[in-house]
Amino acid sequence: MTQDAAIGIHDLSFATTEFVLTHQALAAHDGTDIGKYHVGIGQQSMSVPAADEDIVTMGAAAAAPITARHGTDQIRTVVFATETSIDQSKAAGVYVHSLLGLPSSARVVEIKQACYAGTAALQFALGLVRRDPSQRVLVIASDVSKYDLGSPGEPTQGAAAVAMLIAADPALVRIEDPSGLYTADVMDFWRPNYRDTALVDGHESINAYLQALEGSWKDYIEQGGRALGEFSAFCYHQPFTKMAYKAHRHLLHVCGHDTDAAEITRAIGHTTAYNTVVGNSYTASMYLALASLLDHGEDLTDKAIGFISYGSGSVAEFFAGTVVPGYREHLRTAEHQEAVARRKPVDYARYGELHERSFPADGGDHPVPRETSGPYRLAALSRHKRIYEVR
Ligand code: COA
Repeated sequence: MTQDAAIGIHDLSFATTEFVLTHQALAAHDGTDIGKYHVGIGQQSMSVPAADEDIVTMGAAAAAPITARHGTDQIRTVVFATETSIDQSKAAGVYVHSLLGLPSSARVVEIKQACYAGTAALQFALGLVRRDPSQRVLVIASDVSKYDLGSPGEPTQGAAAVAMLIAADPALVRIEDPSGLYTADVMDFWRPNYRDTALVDGHESINAYLQALEGSWKDYIEQGGRALGEFSAFCYHQPFTKMAYKAHRHLLHVCGHDTDAAEITRAIGHTTAYNTVVGNSYTASMYLALASLLDHGEDLTDKAIGFISYGSGSVAEFFAGTVVPGYREHLRTAEHQEAVARRKPVDYARYGELHERSFPADGGDHPVPRETSGPYRLAALSRHKRIYEVR
């Protein structure tokens, strides 16, 4: 484990949507036993974007508290990770750069590889800060998870953005070398350019995730990583929170450890509090798990956390972080809990309208109804251009 130049997560903030659909409402609509949603997949509700919210407005809302606290002077790079991109060419982070008033002397890029992209962004950021520790990198992972209405993926939708400031001498979590890596060409989840909604073979995806976890863990050990027993907690990518339980049981089994249910809950129980009510936020999901752990767990000072990032298709990475003394003074627990609590419940019909909403592709002027009470909104699509505004 390399810990000489401490680089890692200096600040972390997340934002989610204006609306929420409970799984009770979904179950009442589709006639499913609520036990399948609450227990079987481990989901209570899912965030639903208002008409004037998207990956940019959520990303800006997540990042604004970070720039308010730390300023913008040292940020020379913004990396925006998403798999629900709004443009095939322009990086969504450029809109965020503008909304936040970041310095023009910055590079901004967008990164994609399904839900793994947030970790690719983090690793890119760590490399840049290692090269010049005076610089800071703003990483934003933002996604709206969307499957067809009535499809098996529907109960595993959600939306959120996580913003992280990556810096030397971080206040929250030092990220360590090595990483364990794994790539395999599988079609478990994908979204062709002509579709708004993702296609998923859910059961294939569960198997692919477990294979990728095993592969990345084996590589992590071969690269000289920590022994399993050294970790106090594990943050898994959570397409649904039950997946984290399946994955940790698999990891314990692969390592020849007892797969005791109480031990699994101890290791990951605190990581699911936000994902169970927000739903799948794709690239942001694992970092929402970290926020949940830091906000709800016991004192983790100097404890090692295992991170398991999985992106369908598929790429996975296992890496470790160590929690920094004094981290609790820098958390945003009240704001995070408020972001979840402030959402307004919608019924299935309203959610369905929002889900099916799309812009005409005619190049006309299409204003967007004012719905969000968040700090940024998508005001219009005009001559094929997205117009954002600060509320
Ligand atoms: N009470 C309690 N549990 C119940 C239940 C009930 N009444 N009814 C079903 N369940 C359990 C099942 O036993 C199953 O648990 P298990 O996986 O531990 O065996 C779980 O609920 C799900 O049931 P299942 O029949 O497998 O549901 P499904 O065919 O609708 O598929 C997903 C579930 C998660 C695979 C599906 O929602 C999906 O594809 N989601 C997308 C996942 C994704 O995004 N993957 C890509 C990123 S990694």
